[in-house]
Amino acid sequence: MGMEFNEYTLFAMEIAREAGAELMRRFSHNHVVGTKTTPTDLVTESDFASERILVARIKERFPGHHILTEEGSERGALDEEWLWVIDPLDGTVNYAHGLPIFSVSIALAHRGSVVSGAVYDPTRDVMYAAERGKGAWRNGKPIRVSETRSLSQAMLATGFPYQIEGNIENNLREFGLLMARAQTVRRPGSAALDLAWVAEGVFDGFWEPGLKPWDCAAGVLLVEEAGGTATDYEGRPWNLSALRIALTNGLIHGELLAALSQA
Ligand code: IPD
Ligand code: CA
Ligand code: CA
Repeated sequence: MGMEFNEYTLFAMEIAREAGAELMRRFSHNHVVGTKTTPTDLVTESDFASERILVARIKERFPGHHILTEEGSERGALDEEWLWVIDPLDGTVNYAHGLPIFSVSIALAHRGSVVSGAVYDPTRDVMYAAERGKGAWRNGKPIRVSETRSLSQAMLATGFPYQIEGNIENNLREFGLLMARAQTVRRPGSAALDLAWVAEGVFDGFWEPGLKPWDCAAGVLLVEEAGGTATDYEGRPWNLSALRIALTNGLIHGELLAALSQA
């Protein structure tokens, strides 16, 4: 079976690639222009440049659709009929330091349910894309989650919210406990890519306490379409307003949720 995406998914891939090319052009001479919520929450000129491209393309192609972007140029509501949910640069801190782990994440939600998603890794020119009911794909080839059956054999990934100091949700207890129970835990720094890596079976699972819809909407669809499971920490199916997110190949989901609840 070949990839037979609809016009929305193909469009998401097209603009993710275009924005990713812009990020690469600016990668070595990138300027941090400021911080947002905390001193570690950076924003660069490239975040804005990528966002401008994506918003302009969507408005010209689908003028009736709404958009929700991380940098705030568009603030569509989660329950719009059609909503594009965009992170123009996921992994800004990596990007600003020259670490080549970052991505562009684009999802389309229809009345709150994600139907198309693209996560593009411009440093390796790898496009991950999924459409509801049509599977998850990496550069045109179908991908599946891993077959790892136990947490002790699992390579997990996680991320930390920017507001780490004095935050009870700082994820350090969970990190410590899972370092001991899993085979290992990584913290790559681009949640959208972490989820793509769960979808293709590199990571067996992922969790993070404070993700925003633009960090994970596309990645969740990739994982689900690749045969995995996405929930909140309580095991309820993930939705666009969930904050605490846990994703696995399905086989280690119970073990991961149990560990998170003990941390
Ligand atoms: C961040 C990255 C990181 C995650 C943070 C996100 P940004 O997004 O996805 O991996 O741990 O919670 O905010 O700010 O680089 O777009
Ligand atoms: Ca992000
Ligand atoms: Ca971002």
